[in-house]
Amino acid sequence: MGDLWYNKSMKVLAIESSCDETAAAVVEDGVRILNNVVVSQIDIFAEYGGVIPEVAARSHLEAILPVIHKALGDAELTMDDIDVIAVTHTPGLLGSLLIGTLTARMLAILWKKPLFAVHHLKSHIYANWLGREEVKECVIPEFPLVALVVSGGHTQIIYMQEHNKFEIIGTTRDDAVGECFDKVAKVLGLPYPGGPSIAECARRGDAKKFKLPHPQVEGLDFSFSGLKTAVLRAVQAELGVPINTPSFELAEKLTEQQQADFAASFQETACEILLEKLKIALRDHPEARSVVIAGGVSANAVLREKVAEELLGGSGTKMDKTDDLKTRELRVFFPEKRFAGDNAAMVGVAAYYEMLVGVEPTDPYALDIAPRSVIG
Ligand code: KG4
Ligand code: ZN
Repeated sequence: MGDLWYNKSMKVLAIESSCDETAAAVVEDGVRILNNVVVSQIDIFAEYGGVIPEVAARSHLEAILPVIHKALGDAELTMDDIDVIAVTHTPGLLGSLLIGTLTARMLAILWKKPLFAVHHLKSHIYANWLGREEVKECVIPEFPLVALVVSGGHTQIIYMQEHNKFEIIGTTRDDAVGECFDKVAKVLGLPYPGGPSIAECARRGDAKKFKLPHPQVEGLDFSFSGLKTAVLRAVQAELGVPINTPSFELAEKLTEQQQADFAASFQETACEILLEKLKIALRDHPEARSVVIAGGVSANAVLREKVAEELLGGSGTKMDKTDDLKTRELRVFFPEKRFAGDNAAMVGVAAYYEMLVGVEPTDPYALDIAPRSVIG
């Protein structure tokens, strides 16, 4: 790890606007959250059943300055107290990214602060370092680590040898798992965003009721588009309607119990698929010391249970001595629920670790956005 270029207590003002959350946070020394403000546009998009990029950008524009004011004001801070500005510049929706980055660039120029541009998936991974100030160093993730990144736009397995070094070892070939939750929710007539509404509905359902296929994809890659279609076909078969029946006509025909059984069976299968690949990645990397789950889908309770069960032998104890993964000294991390979805505190901590390894600030006059990009 390089020398700290800045070594007094460092406060990062972080800004996140890559999709449909407008967020600002102040993070001190990469761990203490002085404030974390998230304004969600979920209420707007629940009505449409998904995000409309132009509407998202306009909402960010309205919210961003009040959100930054609140992040600073509630913590009784002014821009004079801030040492560094950090912002998400990739990947995400073009208009949404523009609002956050233009605001951050303006603040950095006007207040002469160093500016860090952070990759969104890095931030999701670094959410696992957040909010652990009361605990000792041994309970933050240790390297090398394997990260399972599961969000609305991405499904990847990433190997990290050390801070700020990312190697993608598995990725989805089509849909992201979060996107699959959102699309299946639509078929079942559940509100946007699909992840939380499927999780809620599934509590009343039987996860073994419908058998759904696991895609046969070699190695560590994923495929989720087949699972979405499999749910659609299973719903059509259950209702006894032809396969050309449009998906929007199906939900109203489902009973509440059928809806819950489909939600539970889908959730179970999606989590099993994620876990199968994660286990292969861990067997490929016997030297890995930690597992980090990141992104919006990491909030899922069934995924959390399954990971704990399969990697730790249930409730954190290592019981099954015959299973190589359960006998390994693996530490498993999930972000606190409030840091699983999009927020700015995770951007602040990711920027902090960039600084720590000697990454230079970016030129605020030149910073550009990239709606699509790979982590690196
Ligand atoms: O990371 P995130 O907030 O935004 C992106 O970077 O995409 O992830 C959003 C995704 C959505 O697809 C949402 O349905 C899903 O995360 N999600 C969940 C849960 N909470 C959010 N999926 C499954 N179970 C949940 N509890
Ligand atoms: Zn995200």
